[in-house]
Amino acid sequence: MLKDEDRIFTNIYGMHDRTLDGARKRGHWDGTAGIIDKGRDWIIDEMKASGLRGRGGAGFPTGMKWSFMPKESDGRPAYLVVNADESEPGTCKDREIMRHDPHTLIEGCLIASFAMNAHTCYIYLRGEYIREREALQTAIDEAYEAGLLGRNACGSGWDFDLYLHHGAGAYICGEETALLESLEGKKGMPRMKPPFPAGAGLYGCPTTVNNVESIAVVPTILRRGAGWFASFGREKNAGTKLFAISGHVNNPCVVEEAMSIPFQELIDRHCGGIRGGWDNLKAVIPGGSSVPLLPASTMKDAIMDFDWLRENRSGLGTAAVIVMDQSTDIIKAIWRLSKFYKHESCGQCTPCREGAGWMMRVMDRLVRGEAEVEEIDMLLDVTKQVEGHTICALGDAAAWPIQGLIRHFRDEIEDRIKHKRAGRTSAVAAE
Ligand code: NAI
Ligand code: SF4
Repeated sequence: MLKDEDRIFTNIYGMHDRTLDGARKRGHWDGTAGIIDKGRDWIIDEMKASGLRGRGGAGFPTGMKWSFMPKESDGRPAYLVVNADESEPGTCKDREIMRHDPHTLIEGCLIASFAMNAHTCYIYLRGEYIREREALQTAIDEAYEAGLLGRNACGSGWDFDLYLHHGAGAYICGEETALLESLEGKKGMPRMKPPFPAGAGLYGCPTTVNNVESIAVVPTILRRGAGWFASFGREKNAGTKLFAISGHVNNPCVVEEAMSIPFQELIDRHCGGIRGGWDNLKAVIPGGSSVPLLPASTMKDAIMDFDWLRENRSGLGTAAVIVMDQSTDIIKAIWRLSKFYKHESCGQCTPCREGAGWMMRVMDRLVRGEAEVEEIDMLLDVTKQVEGHTICALGDAAAWPIQGLIRHFRDEIEDRIKHKRAGRTSAVAAE
């Protein structure tokens, strides 16, 4: 278990003073100018050595991403954009950072922007995050007032401006290129990649888009050393990590733990176990709604990191752990996600626009048990035609939960169809 002294987020539950004074007492903004003084190459090398992988869901190595930015200015400004659009169902970890520990993020923005030659950073905030906007803006204002931001930010010699941009509530604006379009004042629609944002991002300029947690951990990593951060978790799965655990556990919570913690330990230590005991566990979505669910039999041995979960045909994603006990109508749960993805598809590519609606309509009938058994394979086939054939990852996200359901709970789907045929009423009606 992670010791208290190894926790980066010291105010995740809002028990302490979140103002600049409080943040300083907890060690934030300590020696920031000295870190910047060590130079860009040192910072990027440390970030690479720390093994930090992006905390927004994809797990791309952060130091490597930073190194894609041009070393010298080519006349275009460079930008850091922080993705605070946290909208993945089940995910609420960045919310806690912004509400209760905003200075960790703001200090991280300054250091990361300096490392990437950016004088300007935008934080793109989820539309529904009103309290978080207030907390962040207050903290930004305090930082300007104290000379930590602005000209010669915290005496580092680096001029730096930080702006908060409030989104309007579209899930797709969390996709990094749709986010950039939205920030430019256009409709939030994903761009084709490549070019990746480091080559042509905001206003066509070199841009790095990083998740809130990825940026908020930077100052502590650089203060305590890459080796300290890399000492947690398994190889290639380094560091501490915020897990957001919801659903049928006794105490749902957000908690910072060491990466690669066993699933059972995570739930027993921090959530008081599964509601009704471990035998009552049915399935878990281990990383937010975009990754396939895993059945209880797999999850009981699960290691909570990128590689273990990928090897077991799911993913760590945003580390939003959605726990479902035996009372769950698992077909209905996945149908609800299908409805969500259909609603949030931006509609610009055919497999996603048409496929998401088609998959949802079949799921609608499967929930009622009103489909043919043969349609299960047909549905699976359609998910494979959507997967990997779209501009952005939303197409995959619409397909994967259904694949997970069919892979692990085909019997339940077939039983429901057979019961319906036999005139029994076990099928649950969709809303
Ligand atoms: P991705 O794997 O395409 O990209 C990840 C990052 O690495 C991006 O910043 C991308 O620009 C960069 N990258 C990847 N390959 C690169 C290359 N060859 N050269 C330069 N840069 C490269 O994944 P994506 O689409 O950004 O994210 C998908 C994930 O987002 C899903 O796994 C899901 O878990 C997560 N997600 C998170 C949400 C949230 O609320 N935090 C919402 C929805 C999805
Ligand atoms: Fe839009 Fe869906 Fe295509 Fe993404 S996959 S660009 S959300 S239509």
